[in-house]
Amino acid sequence: MSSSPSKKLKVLVTRSDYLPSSIELLRQHFDVECWDNVNNGPLKKEKFLQLIKGKFGVYTSTSEPVDEDVIAAGVPSLRVVSTMSVGVDHVCLQALKVNNVRLGYTPGVLTEATAELTVALLLATSRRLMEAAANVKNGGWTSWSPQWLNGQGLHGSIVGIVGYGRIGHSIAVKLKGFSPKQILYTSRKEKPEGTEIGATLTDLDTLLKRSDFVIVSIALTPETKGIISRSKIALMKENAIFVNSGRGGLVDQDALVEALQQKRILAAGLDVMTPEPLPLDHPLMKLDNVVLLPHIGSASIKARGDMAQLAAENIIAVFKGTSMPAEYL
Ligand code: DGY
Repeated sequence: MSSSPSKKLKVLVTRSDYLPSSIELLRQHFDVECWDNVNNGPLKKEKFLQLIKGKFGVYTSTSEPVDEDVIAAGVPSLRVVSTMSVGVDHVCLQALKVNNVRLGYTPGVLTEATAELTVALLLATSRRLMEAAANVKNGGWTSWSPQWLNGQGLHGSIVGIVGYGRIGHSIAVKLKGFSPKQILYTSRKEKPEGTEIGATLTDLDTLLKRSDFVIVSIALTPETKGIISRSKIALMKENAIFVNSGRGGLVDQDALVEALQQKRILAAGLDVMTPEPLPLDHPLMKLDNVVLLPHIGSASIKARGDMAQLAAENIIAVFKGTSMPAEYL
């Protein structure tokens, strides 16, 4: 017997611009309330606190922090938070645990897209693609010139990857095709998949001291917050190119700005920063040796579609009492 809409459990969707099929999927099982961010702007905390009341589940993402207050406002009806992201640093894990609320996330399906973007960002930064393209349009290109816009090549270089999860490994596999001299990585333990492609486990200090390219691909947790500190930045080589596609909070951003301003490192490519969006008058915006992207690591059509589907399925699984396809433990 199908239940009437009013008898259905309620789910809050924090954005109306999620893939329509994922919202439709939820509507098949739940009474869905969807915040119209396209017309009303982002869901602010005050409204989130109101809307979450009485909901069984929330379909959300990194743009709407699910903090302690939000979770407190959702209990006792709230059973599941499902974030369309692999990162869960915007969710208060402690409050979920205390209140016995489950958390779904979307690992795996965005690995390739994020690794691709990281490689694209690295190349755009090292080969100065943004500056070069701008010069074509602004009249700066007057003739071919032997010393103009020369960048640093990957061939024969030392690449260091901070964090060797799924995305870190995929970045290494992709960069291997550019024939670096060595790929170093940090991790709690040696990774067989890394060994298989000839990557070498090392400690963070050694990686920073030796690498021509430093790529940060690690989850933001209380333990990793600020891991690329001022003193760690000081270890990097003068020709180092720093790339971050993890989270802005992993880095002492003020120290990074200083290092870039003073040319103590060569350049940086950042898909993530603090805050997001970055204010237009932020010092990072003024630097020629920086490429900034608006957090688009997972933004391939396929990855975002798969993430949306998985986010919806995670909520439905809790409703059905089956195991979640991707539960964050
Ligand atoms: C993720 O999935 O964590 C990406 O950073 C998108 O927010």
